[in-house]
Amino acid sequence: MKLKMNDGFEIPMLGLGCFKSEDTAMAVETALSVGYRHIDTANFYENETYVGKGIRSSIRNSVVKREDVFVVSKIWPTSFQNPERAIEYSLKSLNIDYIDAYLLHWPGLDKDARYKAWECLLKYRDKGYFKSIGVSNFKKEHLEDLIEKFGIIPSLNEIEISPWLQKREDYAYCKEKGIVMSASVPFAKGNILSDEKLIEIGKKYGKDVGQVILRWNLQRGNCVIPKSSKPHRIKSNFNVFDFELSKEDIDIINSMENGNTYCSDSSVFDGAFWNIEDNLNF
Ligand SMILES: NC(=O)c1ccc[n+]([C@@H]2O[C@H](COP(=O)([O-])OP(=O)(O)OC[C@H]3O[C@@H](n4cnc5c(N)ncnc54)[C@H](OP(=O)(O)O)[C@@H]3O)[C@@H](O)[C@H]2O)c1
Repeated sequence: MKLKMNDGFEIPMLGLGCFKSEDTAMAVETALSVGYRHIDTANFYENETYVGKGIRSSIRNSVVKREDVFVVSKIWPTSFQNPERAIEYSLKSLNIDYIDAYLLHWPGLDKDARYKAWECLLKYRDKGYFKSIGVSNFKKEHLEDLIEKFGIIPSLNEIEISPWLQKREDYAYCKEKGIVMSASVPFAKGNILSDEKLIEIGKKYGKDVGQVILRWNLQRGNCVIPKSSKPHRIKSNFNVFDFELSKEDIDIINSMENGNTYCSDSSVFDGAFWNIEDNLNF
């Protein structure tokens, strides 16, 4: 299943998250072999090299062609003043000719730096290094500001969404503007997987909680990027295309919002604790 973005490119709805992936190349190879066609990484995850290795080895083994895989990477706000270096790092580490979607990982607090980084993303897109560009952790207010400044609507907004945290205002705004949402942290870092209500819903369909949450996202028209480094879970998280949640069950999940979040608030978080220059070898 794919979604068409506002720039005309299509993005596969179910992707593999790679944050804190334990053996990233293996996880990527496993995911591609079971049918995933969307892989999510970032400078900040410090594993673009291994994501690239996994993709290249899957291409060599004829599991996929390059054009079948949608790769997302991101630049951290401490690189916004010098975006070329971080972008070049992504391109060199992934080593897969181009990146399908490149995102501003967080809005950061310095608007001028944010604009500078966005201009740089536009430049790299126009040169063909990126197919699409987008943002991550942007609230409605951040999106409105960026769109007003540049007159360009980002293609993608990757943002924390789970049944516990539904970001209704941002969701509605993205839908209105035709920005595809990609739900990060869909399992609340694993914490939501023992939720009794979701277990009960899953029983009706012979599915586990993870599969119910992924299906809920697909039926809402979101991309979703669960992380696992365990082959059996990578596989089971992909087994969500053979059932449909009823309207009644969707309504139950829609009513589970409790505000539990596992990410910082992007209106106050500047990301200064991590800098590519101190953490990655160029
Ligand atoms: N843009 C952003 O700022 C941002 C922020 C956070 C995350 N993300 C992206 O979103 C992805 C997902 O978020 P996340 O990794 O933080 O958390 P998550 O996907 O909500 O949860 C991952 C946790 O759930 C476990 N898990 C996965 N599938 C499972 C299953 N079927 N049964 C039981 N446990 C399962 C994983 O363990 P095992 O690995 O042991 O299976 C891991 O501990 C990230 O990897 C990253 O790509 C983006």
